[in-house]
Amino acid sequence: MAARKILVVDDEKNQRDILQMILTGELDEAGEARYEVKTAASGQDALRSFKHENFDLVLTDLKMSGMDGLQLLNELTQLDSATPVILMTAHGSIDTVKEALRGGAFDYLEKPLDRAKLLATVAKAVSQMKAVDEEIIGVSDAMERVKKMIVKVAPSSSTVLIRGESGTGKERIARAIHKASPRINERFQAVNCAAINENLLESELFGHEKGSFTGAHAEKKGLFEIADKGTLFLDEIGEVSQSMQAKLLRALQEKEVTRVGGTRPIKVDVRVLAATNRDLEAMVKDGRFREDLYYRLNVIPIQIPPLRQRRDDIEVLTNFFLHKHSANASRPIRLSGEARGLILNYGWPGNVRQLESAIERALLLAEGDEITGEDLPMEIRQVAHVEGTGGFKLPPEGISFEELERSLIMQAMEQTGWNITRSAKLLGLSFRTMQYRLDKFGIKRPNRGKGVADEMEEEETPPEGE
Ligand SMILES: Nc1ncnc2c1ncn2[C@@H]1O[C@H](COP(=O)(O)OP(=O)(O)OP(=O)(O)O)[C@@H](O)[C@H]1O
Ligand SMILES: [Mg+2]
Repeated sequence: MAARKILVVDDEKNQRDILQMILTGELDEAGEARYEVKTAASGQDALRSFKHENFDLVLTDLKMSGMDGLQLLNELTQLDSATPVILMTAHGSIDTVKEALRGGAFDYLEKPLDRAKLLATVAKAVSQMKAVDEEIIGVSDAMERVKKMIVKVAPSSSTVLIRGESGTGKERIARAIHKASPRINERFQAVNCAAINENLLESELFGHEKGSFTGAHAEKKGLFEIADKGTLFLDEIGEVSQSMQAKLLRALQEKEVTRVGGTRPIKVDVRVLAATNRDLEAMVKDGRFREDLYYRLNVIPIQIPPLRQRRDDIEVLTNFFLHKHSANASRPIRLSGEARGLILNYGWPGNVRQLESAIERALLLAEGDEITGEDLPMEIRQVAHVEGTGGFKLPPEGISFEELERSLIMQAMEQTGWNITRSAKLLGLSFRTMQYRLDKFGIKRPNRGKGVADEMEEEETPPEGE
């Protein structure tokens, strides 16, 4: 395990030195340092470090001249940093601490620092990072950030709004937040708001009293009550009706619910996580989604990009699912080069879910100890139709036009060593059209952190006249 990078921020040199000494002295089983420590003498200094380096954890003093710990926490959030922050504060400033925890601090430590407590708190953050790493597979910058966010937001009870296309892993992320939170031993209750009609959803969420409607033979607890002290995951939140939106807003604001047919409000302590694939902002604009509910839900937004925009994750996810689903196979099964190529080049409109089911299916179909292209679903193989034919023939079962386009662009880029100008020529496109399509499909040069757009600025400029 590589050492975790910690940034220690304190305006007293003495404190910085002590923290650095304690933390760097921690060794793992193999005798390697657990933590790599950098120090900053002020909030401004810390922000500067953040501009060119990534950290796994920040430990900052609360009271500092200039920018204090809370302001730093704020600035880091503004910078879109997902790195968890632990605040160190003098005894007695408990109000500030509460504010800090609401503001997204991971935890706090009281000064004078207790060595054991310090190490335990840092170790807690690190062990949660590890747990999340095992749960959420992904190596792209986007997923590294999502994983940090999970650890960062887990300790609080703030509402989190998880956005992403179907199959990107929204529910899995919600579960990971619950598991990393202090509510881990309580219930995680998921409800799909789109799957049931409005009346039923109301009694599902808030419960009902006996005789409150035809068929209500007995009283029933709603999911808010059932999830008390735990986490409630409201999936497809963009699908709920206006009147349901008003009721949800009330439940979130007042932290209490009233059963259908009941009059007595019931206090509940529930952490709400919500997910949607809809453009809620547009829905707010044209009045289909309440603005006040939107703000209530969107306290912490987590965006999961579609798989085609984080192509670095395809390979690790593929290996993960191969391993996961071959557990019940009698023999080890590998991917052939051809199958791997098809998988890595496909656009995955159904995201991680589609990838997982393609692998699961291929494992069942594979005859030898290898998955071949033939074992993959048709839509993935179709992409190969163009290859090796004199001209393209539309197969009787039809094709996915987008996939075909994407495949041709990939091939052109590969053939030209990722030269956009020459790829555009090969396809008879203008430089601009090519650039637009690369962005649209999120095509990136493999094994490089940089986007095509960055690369282009350095290496290629549009030809004259474009
Ligand atoms: N990063 C990931 N690591 C491991 N498994 C993942 C990851 N993302 C998604 N999965 C798996 O992919 C499948 C789909 O994920 P999930 O159900 O969370 O997606 P979703 O965004 O909620 O989809 P939908 O919008 O269709 O409900 C699940 O089996 C999930 O466990
Ligand atoms: Mg889901």
